[in-house]
Amino acid sequence: MNTFIYRKNDDNEIRQVSQILKNGGLAAIPTETVYGLAANALDAQAVKKIFAAKGRPQDNPLIVHISEFDEIYPLVKYVPESAKILAEKFWPGPLTIILPKSDLIPDVVSAGLDTVAIRMPSHPIANRIIKSAGVPLAAPSANSSGLPSPTNASHVIDDMMGKIDAIVDGGECDVGVESTVITLASEIPRILRPGGVTLEQLREVLGRVDVDPAVTESLGENAVAASPGMKYKHYAPKAQVFIIKSTLPSFRCYTDYVRQDSDYAVCFDGEEEKIKIPCIPYGSEKDAAAQAHRLFAILRQADKIGAQRVFVRCPSLGGVGLAVYNRLIRAAAFRIIDVPEIWGITGQTGAGKTSVCRALAQKGVCVIDCDVTARKVTEKGSPVLENLAAAFGSDIILPDGTLDRKALAEKAFSSEEGEALLNSITHPAITKLVRDEIMENKDKYSLFAVDAALLFESEIYDYCTKTIVVTADESIRLSRIMQRDSITRDEALLRINAQKSAEYYISKADAVIKNNGGEIDLAGIL
Ligand code: TXA
Ligand code: MG
Repeated sequence: MNTFIYRKNDDNEIRQVSQILKNGGLAAIPTETVYGLAANALDAQAVKKIFAAKGRPQDNPLIVHISEFDEIYPLVKYVPESAKILAEKFWPGPLTIILPKSDLIPDVVSAGLDTVAIRMPSHPIANRIIKSAGVPLAAPSANSSGLPSPTNASHVIDDMMGKIDAIVDGGECDVGVESTVITLASEIPRILRPGGVTLEQLREVLGRVDVDPAVTESLGENAVAASPGMKYKHYAPKAQVFIIKSTLPSFRCYTDYVRQDSDYAVCFDGEEEKIKIPCIPYGSEKDAAAQAHRLFAILRQADKIGAQRVFVRCPSLGGVGLAVYNRLIRAAAFRIIDVPEIWGITGQTGAGKTSVCRALAQKGVCVIDCDVTARKVTEKGSPVLENLAAAFGSDIILPDGTLDRKALAEKAFSSEEGEALLNSITHPAITKLVRDEIMENKDKYSLFAVDAALLFESEIYDYCTKTIVVTADESIRLSRIMQRDSITRDEALLRINAQKSAEYYISKADAVIKNNGGEIDLAGIL
C-alpha cells in the first residue's frame, strides 16, 4: 500500500485526509497526547483495518474521537452530569470518558463491551480532520501494538509506512503520553489509565475518584482487566527496561555493579555526571510533564542506538508522574528493582566510629566495615597483594605469604606519593567488594552503612546519600588510640596529626555524632 504523507495541513490537505477516512481508509493524525491511527468509528470494516495495521488484539477496545460536545449524544446511552462537568473543565484535552454505549457503536470498536470510550482532542489538526470528516473517529495510538506510542511523525513512519493510507505530520505531540481514561459507567468514577489530566485535577472536580489497581500493579494471569489495554506488555522497546527505585547514589552503585556494554541509564536532567554508564536524560526530577513529553521518544531512541538494557530512574508518582510510572512499568514488563539507601560513616581515628556502627547494626542496619574489606582484598595470594608487592617491593610479604602490614605502612606512609600509590591499588578493589556485598544483600536490608576512614577519598562516597561524621574530644581520642593499639602517647599524637582536622570532616557531614563515650544517640539520624 502507498502511504501518503501530508505536511502542509492546509484546507486542501485536510479535505483529502477526511475524504480518505470517509471512504473507509486509515490515516495517522496528530493529537496533543500521541499520534492516533484513525478510521470512521461508525464503519466496522474500516475499524477492522486498524486492528490489522497495528497487530492489535481483538479484545482491546478503541477510543472514539469527537470535535464538539454535542457529538457525544448519539454515541452513548445517557450523559450523566459528571460527564458534562468533566467535559466543561477538560475538553478539548487529554481526557477520555467511558460511558454505556449506544447501538450506533459497532462491536468491533468496543471489543464487545457495552461501554464506549470518548475523547475530544485539543490538537487543532485533529479537530479540523474530525469536523471535516463529519463522523466520529476511532483512533488508538498509531504504533505497532506493544511498541512505544508515537509522539512525532517519524515514529509513525517507522511503524506504519506501507500499512495505512495517510500520515499527517503535525510535529511533536505536546503531552507525550496518552489521555487519562476515566470510567463513569461504574458507581464511583475510576481511572483506568492515568494521563495528561491528573488524578488530583479529577478529584478536585468530582470529589471521590478511584484508581484501578492495574494502574500501578501487574495484573495476575487470569485477572479481568477493567481496561483491556492494561493487561498487555506495552510501550516496550526491544531493549530490556528496568525501573530502579532508589536514590541517585544508590542508582550509581547498582549500575556500577551490573554494568555491561550496551547498558544505558535513563536519568533525570543534570545527573549524567554522577552515573558511569551512558545516560539519556528524560527531564528534571521535579518536572513530570517534561518526563511524559520525552518518555516514548527516549524508549524508541534506546533501540536506535542499540541499547540492550535500559535502567530508568523511577519517577515520583504525583501529577502526570503517575502516567509516566504507569507506562514505564509496562515498558519494563514489571521489572522493578528496589535498591536501599547507603550511608557513609567516617571520622578521625579514635573518634569511636565502631561503636556508632554497632548501634546502627542493632537497629537493623547492614554495616560494612572497610577495614575488614581491606583485609579481605589483601589476603594471601590476592591480585591486590601481588600489585602491592610489585609497587612497594616483595619484602612487604611475610614468609608465610601474608601481608606485612607494618612494612607496607612504613613504605607507603613515608611520602604522599607512596600513600597515593597505595590507595590507587587498594581502593578500587575495596570499592568493588563493598559494592558486591551491598548488592548481594540489597533485598535483605532497607539501609546500608559503610564504615570507611577514607570515605571522602574513595568512590564509595559517590554511593552515599548521607554522611555521618563521628567526633570526640582530642584527649579522649588520644587515650583510645593508645589503648587500642598499645602505642605511646607520642606515637598516637603522630597518627592524629597525620589526619585531616575535625573541621574538615564536619564540613562534609550531613550529620555529626559526638561520641565521648556512653550511650550512642541515633535519634537525630534514624
Ligand atoms: O491519547 C489517547 O488516548 C490516544 C490518542 C490517539 O487519542 N489514544 C489511545 O488509544 O491511547 P489506545 O487504543 O492506544 O488506548 C485506549 C485505551 C486502551 O487501554 C483500551 O483498553 C482502553 O483505552 N479502552 C477503550 N475503550 C474502553 C472501554 N470501553 N472500557 C475500558 N477501557 C477502554
Ligand atoms: Mg496504545
